[in-house]
Amino acid sequence: MKIIETKNYAEMSKRAADLIAAQVLLKPDAVLGLATGSTPIGLYDELVRRYEAGELDFSAIRSVNLDEYCGLDGTNDQSYRYFMNTHLFDRVNIDPKNTNVPNGKATDFAAEGERYDALIRQLGGIDIQLLGIGLDGHIGFNEPDDAFTGPTHEVKLDPSTIAANARFFASEDEVPRSAITMGMASIMQARRVLLVANGNSKAEILKKALFGPITPQVPASLLQLHPDLTVIFCGDDK
Ligand code: GLP
Repeated sequence: MKIIETKNYAEMSKRAADLIAAQVLLKPDAVLGLATGSTPIGLYDELVRRYEAGELDFSAIRSVNLDEYCGLDGTNDQSYRYFMNTHLFDRVNIDPKNTNVPNGKATDFAAEGERYDALIRQLGGIDIQLLGIGLDGHIGFNEPDDAFTGPTHEVKLDPSTIAANARFFASEDEVPRSAITMGMASIMQARRVLLVANGNSKAEILKKALFGPITPQVPASLLQLHPDLTVIFCGDDK
């Protein structure tokens, strides 16, 4: 495990973008595992900047996102598909057909999970998986539970996650109560994992996840067993 502490959010975003950019340069048709949340926004802006400067080419890149809210389709501005289009896909030359996000409007989420895992296998697995971390230690939407779940699956969101994500919605009532998320298997099988965490509010859970016992009550703690994990953390901007 490699832990990098940066002095501010801008530096964190640049260091994280370096790792994604290196992957794109080394393997132009790499499979990028991507994440939403406020933390990676600066990193996506940085990738866009490098693309506009002619340093990066996404034309053969494939992507798989971690998760999506159940019930929201891609035109809903709170959906993770919409987030990815707005923050990255519409701003670089990635082929939209090569971008994948679980279908929040699926009628059968068990079948959608199987489809998504088969797709990841068909793509040859994930070269680098980007992750944020929730205040309760969730990654993707793998919430604290009695056991780790391997496959892509539907999850009931934790009240603390609903409260934390309410800031993006008009009110807490509008936050979907469930989501579909990549499970721990695809995340752990990614060849490389990059976790970004921003702000002092994340320091305690990050410490628990990286140095505490490995337990499904802190889903991110399983990452301790990943052979190629990089964590980039910055405290609050002063
Ligand atoms: C959401 C996403 C996670 C993300 C987390 C933290 O719940 N499903 O993938 O890591 O939020 O988000 P933020 O970066 O805004 O703190």
